[in-house]
Amino acid sequence: MSSSCSGLSRVLVAVATALASASSSCPETWGSPGVQYGQPGRSMTLCCPGVTAGAPVSWFRDHETSLLQGPDSGLGQELVLTQADSTDEGTYICRTLDGALGGMVTLQLGYPPARPLVSCRAADYENFSCTWSPSQVSGLPTRYLTSYRKKTVPGTDGQRMSPSTGPWPCPQDPPGAARCVVHGAEFWSQYRINVTEVNPLGVSTRLLDVSLQSILRPDPPQGLRVESVPGYPRRLRASWTYPASWPRQPHFLLKFRLQYRPVQHPAWSTVEPTGLEEVITDAVAGLPHAVRVSARDFLDAGIWSAWSPEAWGTPSTEPLPKEIPAGSQPHTQPEEDTQVDSPAPPRPSLLPDLLPLDHRDPLEQVAVLASLGIFSFLGLAAGALALGLWLRLRPDGKDGPQKPGFLAPMIPVDKLPGAPNL
Ligand SMILES: *[C@@H]1O[C@H](CO)[C@@H](O)[C@H](O)[C@H]1NC(C)=O
Ligand SMILES: *[C@@H]1O[C@H](CO)[C@@H](O)[C@H](O)[C@H]1NC(C)=O
Repeated sequence: MSSSCSGLSRVLVAVATALASASSSCPETWGSPGVQYGQPGRSMTLCCPGVTAGAPVSWFRDHETSLLQGPDSGLGQELVLTQADSTDEGTYICRTLDGALGGMVTLQLGYPPARPLVSCRAADYENFSCTWSPSQVSGLPTRYLTSYRKKTVPGTDGQRMSPSTGPWPCPQDPPGAARCVVHGAEFWSQYRINVTEVNPLGVSTRLLDVSLQSILRPDPPQGLRVESVPGYPRRLRASWTYPASWPRQPHFLLKFRLQYRPVQHPAWSTVEPTGLEEVITDAVAGLPHAVRVSARDFLDAGIWSAWSPEAWGTPSTEPLPKEIPAGSQPHTQPEEDTQVDSPAPPRPSLLPDLLPLDHRDPLEQVAVLASLGIFSFLGLAAGALALGLWLRLRPDGKDGPQKPGFLAPMIPVDKLPGAPNL
């Protein structure tokens, strides 16, 4: 009942507008030329193009001779369909009484836009891109308007926001792709992305707040190589490079995560290398291993990259190379490895990894020295901190009137009671 009522009121509105706008032609709608758009189940008014507004016309379906609506309908140049459905889609022909003027209109039905689904990602620390997809199929020609504002400037108290700036267009690259790119974004700023879906029946806007540091996801590292280490049947050396999309800069470094396993083995072992290289020391002798690596912002912003493509390598079965000092390798059958966590029983024909501590890699010795250095530095730093705290919290400091508490040194001197007001 309500639909027929609304259909009737639509007719009355159509009549009223036809009478009121006696000198206007058909309204311009966005979409393909010669097509008018409506929604299934709603009433629909088609307008005869090329005819003076209000001029009586006859309406026909294309390829049909029966009159749909005569010139005496009182609706002028408009055809009213009370409850459009898919059978009404198609082409209509309208003609004035004398047949001299007229036109052709195609009716296409669909739905108004719905808020699109939007997500954004940054593959580096300066640029990010947003992609979108319709949340509902409208069946109509659709375009997207994309813009962004800088929303907040981080305040010290986390609450204060300076007024937003913009909007600026978020250029769609290439045009018509469901993707736009913001260049030169600030790492710590908040941005509000506006993706507005537009079709002939309306507009619908999705707003999304993003900050570069939370949507950061580097591309996977590149150039992963796995090499055997001659003389070390349980070692593999893996090396890789930064992803090409991540220019190296001292303030924006990447850290890495490396996984490896014998290829028949389902479970990965994981290590976090410190550089662009890692020496695996507990590989299973004689077995091919798969290795993969992923990257993340050094300070844990965003998330880990996808894994790189796997690279494979098999530990060396060659004896120690001849260059090693003669005294340290008098035998081809080296001593037994002291490690017991070998994931698979060593095969008799394969040499376990052997070297005693003092013949370890220079790299490992450097690592030990470095960690000793770090510990002693940390010890010194802790001592200095404790001394500093003691000096700050000391009840009777000699440097003027001072309130106890951490914040006291941060109050400007001229705000302290008793200080001369300059
Ligand atoms: C951001 O994009 C611009 C333009 O494509 C590029 O020149 C620049 O290197 C990018 N910045 C980073 C950090 O990758
Ligand atoms: C979003 O973009 C549309 C199209 O440019 C604009 O009309 C609308 O006002 C914007 N909305 C907000 C909240 O910025």
